[in-house]
Amino acid sequence: MKTYNLCLLGFGNVGKALLRLLVEKRATLRDRYGFDWQITGVASRRLGWIAAPDGLDPETLLRGELPAPMADTGADPVRAWLDRARADVLFENSSLNAQTGQPAIHHLRTALELGAHAITANKGPIVHAYHDLRDLALQHGKRFMFESTVMDGAPIFSLFRDALPAASIVRFRGILNSTTNYILTRMEAGLDFDAAVREAQAIGIAETDPSADVDGWDATVKVTALATVLMDSPLDPAQVERSGIRGLTGEAVQEALAQGFRYKLVCTAERDEAGSIRARVGMEKVSLTDPLASVMGTSSLVHFETDVLPGLTLTEHNPGPKTTAYGLLADLINALR
Ligand SMILES: NC(=O)c1ccc[n+]([C@@H]2O[C@H](COP(=O)([O-])OP(=O)(O)OC[C@H]3O[C@@H](n4cnc5c(N)ncnc54)[C@H](OP(=O)(O)O)[C@@H]3O)[C@@H](O)[C@H]2O)c1
Repeated sequence: MKTYNLCLLGFGNVGKALLRLLVEKRATLRDRYGFDWQITGVASRRLGWIAAPDGLDPETLLRGELPAPMADTGADPVRAWLDRARADVLFENSSLNAQTGQPAIHHLRTALELGAHAITANKGPIVHAYHDLRDLALQHGKRFMFESTVMDGAPIFSLFRDALPAASIVRFRGILNSTTNYILTRMEAGLDFDAAVREAQAIGIAETDPSADVDGWDATVKVTALATVLMDSPLDPAQVERSGIRGLTGEAVQEALAQGFRYKLVCTAERDEAGSIRARVGMEKVSLTDPLASVMGTSSLVHFETDVLPGLTLTEHNPGPKTTAYGLLADLINALR
């Protein structure tokens, strides 16, 4: 049975959840998919570049007992590290840099150049370098996979790649940012905007500075990623018409409800007659009979209109770190088969 060397770059919530899931699913991977794995590299800014070609013990890593990093990594540390770890697969789960996608793009690029599969939950590389990385992977006969970048583990990219070949998306519409959806849900329950934001921060779904979510930036990056990949049309986040939910009052939320509407941060993208993509993120009052109105809390939804299936809707209920980890695991299995 082949044992693959896996390297984890970024060992935060997602990296750790992935390692826990790999351990949980080890027997399934062996019995059903015929392969085993070992972790030969772990890296982050604080941890440095840890490489162990004979494998690291997952439980020890999860307890936070990490061996010393490489002492000399030269001018291109990620290359030296992947080389030393004899990586077959890189999981790139470092923090999002929405402006440039770096250094994650460099990490993924280096892995592909060295002949490893490159798998990520980081949206930056999709938005800023999807076509380059896709072509590089093809050139090296490896896979570049990113299922967890949008709607966590829900199969969106693989749906169009594998289950709906040659289907062409005319338009999509959805709720893609769980933090704002949670805030809006709590405002319906009677909290004002600031209290709902504080609650989202207290349960760990909003950051100390919530502006990436409440001003619509995260949703914009996700719309850009979906349009770029699924509509095969490079789109810059700056081309997305964007507004957020800041300024919405509790009174307005209650008034809308009384009239049979709900406020939602709605993402849309469509191809116009000239073939260009027009994309928008903005708050809308949606009717309670609209499928988008049924999405509460941290759940999300996307509805696709295609040239062959007039309408197809995917809803993801209550995702957690394991959901994101599952998207990465599914990518691993799909990359290796
Ligand atoms: N959390 C989710 O549910 C979720 C869902 C979908 C996608 N994602 C995406 O998954 C990625 C990871 O998210 P997370 O929740 O695990 O974040 P996190 O808990 O903050 O962990 C980020 C990890 O990346 C490392 N890191 C950050 N910048 C780095 C750099 N320049 N070089 C090397 N390591 C770096 C951090 O460690 P140091 O500080 O030591 O460098 C840390 O280990 C992000 O891109 C995020 O957008 C997350």
